[in-house]
Amino acid sequence: MKTQYYTASSLDGFIADSHDSLEWLFPLGNVADTSYPAFIREVGALAMGSATYEWMLRHVVGAKQPQPWPYQQPTWVFTTRTLPSAPGADIRFVRGDVRPAHQAMVAAAAGKNVWIVGGGDLAGQFYDHGLLDELFVQVGSVTLGAGKPLLPRAITSPPLRLVSVRAVGTGFAELHYELPRRPSK
Ligand SMILES: NC(=O)c1ccc[n+]([C@@H]2O[C@H](COP(=O)([O-])OP(=O)(O)OC[C@H]3O[C@@H](n4cnc5c(N)ncnc54)[C@H](OP(=O)(O)O)[C@@H]3O)[C@@H](O)[C@H]2O)c1
Repeated sequence: MKTQYYTASSLDGFIADSHDSLEWLFPLGNVADTSYPAFIREVGALAMGSATYEWMLRHVVGAKQPQPWPYQQPTWVFTTRTLPSAPGADIRFVRGDVRPAHQAMVAAAAGKNVWIVGGGDLAGQFYDHGLLDELFVQVGSVTLGAGKPLLPRAITSPPLRLVSVRAVGTGFAELHYELPRRPSK
C-alpha cells in the first residue's frame, strides 16, 4: 500500500492556471494512452482539496451535459466550508490535520493505494507528516507562466528518487518518483 500524489502539470510546474482552468491539459493527449488506467485500478481511497472538488462539481457532475461522479472509491474532501455532496459519490468532508484522515483512508483502501489528487499544498501537508510515498507527474508540453503549484515544498536533501520516465506521444513525459522518507512530526 502506497500513498501516491498522481497529477498532470505544465512544464513550469503548475497543475491548473490562475483561474483553475485545465483547458490547456486535455488537448495534450488521450488518457487511455497514459499510466492512468493501470494506476486507478490500484487506488482504494482518494483525497482532494476543495478547489479540486469544486472543479469536479462544475465540470463533471454539474456540467451542461452532466457526467456521473467518476470514482467508486471513497473520497476525502478537505475544506473549512460546507459544500454539497456530489450525487452518487461517497464523500467524507474533513478539515485540519491530515493524519487522522490518512489513517481512515488507509483503512478504507484495504491494502490498495491512497491517491492524493491535489492540489499541491494538500499533497505537501501529507509530505510534511511523512505520509507521502510516491509522486507521479504527467508533465505536459506547455508552459503557463503562473497558476496553482505542483508541490510548494522544498525537498532537496535528500532529493526525490527518479524511478521511471516514459514519453506519451509528444504531449507528456510521465515521471515517477519516490519521496524521501521524512520523519513524522
Ligand atoms: N492537473 C491536474 O491533473 C490536476 C489535479 C488536481 C487538481 N487540479 C486542479 O488544480 C487546482 C488545485 O487548486 P488548489 O491548489 O487551490 O488546491 P486544492 O487542494 O484543490 O484546494 C485548496 C483548498 O482546500 C482547502 N483545504 C486544503 N487543505 C485543507 C485542510 N487541511 N483543512 C481544511 N481545508 C483544507 C482550503 O479551502 P477551503 O477551506 O476554503 O475550502 C484550500 O484553500 C484546481 O483547479 C484543480 O481542479 C489539477
